Formats: sequence, C-alpha cells, structure tokens
Amino acid sequence: MSLNDPHIWWYVTRASALIAWALMTLSVVWGVLLSTRILRRVDNPGWLQDLHRFLGGLSVIMVLLHMVTLMLDGWLHLSLVQVLVPFTSDFKPIAVALGIVAFYLLIAVQGSSMIMHRLPRTFWKGLHYASYAVVLLVSFHAGLSGTDVGSLGYKILAFSLIGLTAAATVVRIAVTNRTTRAAKAEVWVPPHDPAPRISPPRIQTRTMVVAESGLIAEGVMGIRLVALGGGLLPIWYPGAHVTLHLANGLERQYSLCGDPGERHHYDLAVLRTEDSDGGSRWVHESVVPGTTIEVSGPLNHFELEPSREYLFIAGGIGITPIKAMIESLPAIREWRLIYVGRSRRSMAFAGELAERYPDRVRIHASDETPAQLDFTRLVTPDTTAVYCCGPESLMSAVASAVPSARLHAERFIPIERVPSIPDQPLRLTFSRSPLALTVGAGETVLDALERGGMPVSGSCRKGVCGTCEVKVLAGTPEHLDSVMDDAEKDKLKIMYPCVSRAMTPELVLDF
Ligand code: FES
Repeated sequence: MSLNDPHIWWYVTRASALIAWALMTLSVVWGVLLSTRILRRVDNPGWLQDLHRFLGGLSVIMVLLHMVTLMLDGWLHLSLVQVLVPFTSDFKPIAVALGIVAFYLLIAVQGSSMIMHRLPRTFWKGLHYASYAVVLLVSFHAGLSGTDVGSLGYKILAFSLIGLTAAATVVRIAVTNRTTRAAKAEVWVPPHDPAPRISPPRIQTRTMVVAESGLIAEGVMGIRLVALGGGLLPIWYPGAHVTLHLANGLERQYSLCGDPGERHHYDLAVLRTEDSDGGSRWVHESVVPGTTIEVSGPLNHFELEPSREYLFIAGGIGITPIKAMIESLPAIREWRLIYVGRSRRSMAFAGELAERYPDRVRIHASDETPAQLDFTRLVTPDTTAVYCCGPESLMSAVASAVPSARLHAERFIPIERVPSIPDQPLRLTFSRSPLALTVGAGETVLDALERGGMPVSGSCRKGVCGTCEVKVLAGTPEHLDSVMDDAEKDKLKIMYPCVSRAMTPELVLDF
C-alpha cells in the first residue's frame, strides 16, 4: 500500500473505525474496573483513571479521523453534511446514521467528563452510562456498514469486543444491584409523622463493634472495627477518615490506616492527647474488644492523586492516612517515606514499615537525631508528589519547601485564619428552595443553614473534618477552614460553612 494507492483512504477510514471501536470498548471496561473498584487491591485507581480518560480521548481522535477520511475516500466520497447529519447518506443510510448518533453521544460523554466537577453528579453519571449505548451503536454500525465483515480478522475482533462489552455490562449490573441492596438496608426510615416538618438531616451512622484493641506504640491505641453482625463495609480510598460518635457525646475523626482493599474491617490508631477535650481519653479508657461505637463515613479530603513518584512525610500520628496510601501502592511504584517523631517508641507502625521497606522508609526520631531535617533537599525531584500529615510545625516546614501545586496536606488541628473583612450579616439563597436566610454577625453559616432546616451536617465545627461541605453557585466564599487548599475548593466550588463566611454580601448555595 502506498500513498498513490487509490484505496489508501478506505484503508485509513476502516482502520481508524476499528481502532476507535476497540478503544471505546477498552475505555468502558476500564470504567467498569474503576467504578466497581475491582482492581483496587492492585494499585490506587489513579492510573486507571488516567488510562480511562486516555482511551476515551484517543477514541474521539480516531472517530474524527474516520469521519475525515470518509470524505476523502474516492469511492464513498461523503460530504460533510452526510457525515454529520443522520439519514443524508446514500450509502447504507441506517448504518451510517447509527454511527453518527454514536458520535454525538460519545462527544456528550467525553465533554461532560471534562467538566464533571461543574455538573451535578447524578446528571454526569446518567450521561456517562450512555457509553454503553455508544459501544452498542458502534457495534451495529461496524457490522452493517463494513465491507470486510466476512473476513476472519474482522470476526475475531468483533466477537472479542462484543464479548468484552457484554462481560463489563454484566459485572456493572451485578455490582450495582449489590450496592443498591446494601444502601437500601442502611437507609434510615423516620418514624411515621403525619405533620410535615423541616428537620436537619441525620448523619447516617452504622453500629460497629471493636474486634481488637490495644497499645501499638506509646500513647497510641490501635482499634479494629467490624460491622455489627459482620459483612462488607463501604469502600474507601487511602486518606479517608471516619467519625466516631462516642458514648460521651463527642464526635472525633480518625484516619483509616489499614489496607484499603480489605472490606471486612476498619483499622484506626488513636493518639491519647491530654490537652484535648476528652475524645481520645475516652477512647483509651473505655474502648475494649466488644465495645459498640456509632461510626459515620468514610469521607475523604486527602485523596491520593496519580503520580509517577510519591514522597510521604508523616509526623507522629499523621502516619495513619499515609500508611493506608503506602498499603495501596503496588511494589513497582516509586515512593519514599520520611517519618518524624519524638522517639521510635511513640511512633506507630515505625518498626513494621522500616522492616518491610528498608530502602524506602527513613525514620527520624528526635531522641536519636536531634538535628532538624532540611526538607528543601529531600523533596526533589520536581516530579514527586508530596503528601504530608502531622503537627503544624512539620506542615509549615514542608509547605515552605514544596511548591503548593505538588503538596497535598491534611491537618488534624485547624490553622488559625483571620477573616479579611469584619463579621457582617450575610444573605443566603438557594438554587432549589425559595427560602432566604440571614447569617447574623457572630453566627456561622452552618448554624444558619441548620436553623433553616437545610440538609447539611456538621461534626468537628472547626473546619477540619470536611463533613459540612456545601456547593457554592454564586458569590465568593471566604475560606477559613483547614480542610484543603483554597484554590482546590474554588475549583470545586465548595466551602465549609462551619467556619467560612463570604467576601460578597450574598451566597447562592446548591440546596
Ligand atoms: S464540620 Fe468539620 S469541616 Fe465543617
């Protein structure tokens, strides 16, 4: 075949069509692996997300190539209108129309994925399910319009792709049914109440039982929680935390530190802090195997993003989310851990991690090496994503050495943030409610939302846990929380109303 071959564009158009079909099918299969977390024991799903997006994007390019070459092919010689408008083609109009409809659906799926953070999640998800329709339409389009469908090569390819799509669809349906049954079993049904009323939402909790507990380091208690009556627990990703609703009325957040692939228990490590208001003390004094605890979550505001290399920096009990991240990475992934603490005796998991990963883990105990670490030397190369969790002194030392674009940090204690404008009354309106609320000076936005019966819940009320997250549709919030980077919140259009207020006199919230 040469460029002078009169059939060159036919070859290109056919090859690009078949490649696009294969890419779409693989993208759907990858999407199923992602949404069902089937591969989560192998790696964090970051690389799967990249691959899913890459395959989808490449399939659009191949489809565009297919359409352009259809117009260049001397035999078919379709016009732009015939390539874009269904039933205008003289050549197999129904088969071509199926391909055109599939193209528009594919653009809608890919386009909405690029702006998914700006779309309501249910809308985006519903649209994303159209991927199955795209692959189905493309299968019919390829089978009905191809001039080589009788060849052995085509038959092998077609049966493989259709088989893969069918298997992915069955897996997706089976997992959806299982998840829906589990979710239904957990729905809180309010007692019969004939009088309609507005009441603040209940945080959904599940009763869990302490299966094991005991000191794992000086002042640190390890706790293993299982579901009351057994069974699978909700899926979580490294960096997630749960809220324990303690019997003394306090609520406390603790990072999950076990293996994210393990669905039968949650592992926590709780540091006893004498200057706290009683949460960790209660846990240390009252929790024994058999204790039941109400637990909500998991929630995650410290997710492990895809990266070539990771540098983890943990200080003291800040090792807990980092340990889960390490557990989720495959052996081939490049990572290092710098674990800082007072002494090895007080550093949970220090011995275990150093023994399992002697080349990757560096323990810096200040009773052994009093000299401060120089983070500017440690955070190279530039491609490394840095994940840090620990006390404020460590966080600020790391923040001054790492560009914010590469730094992912989680705080247990809120940073002190001073509002840039004085506390003044703020008006709240809502996208799906005629209600308007005024937040008084001295009142928090969360207080006002709860007063108005809006479906939002708070837990820490200090801007740390992320439970009270709300979506902002208009107006400019003034972020005063410590949950995540302000730029990230602005990108996601969210705020944490337990501490944050507004730069504008009005906010429109998504309720
Ligand atoms: S309630 Fe914890 S961040 Fe608002």
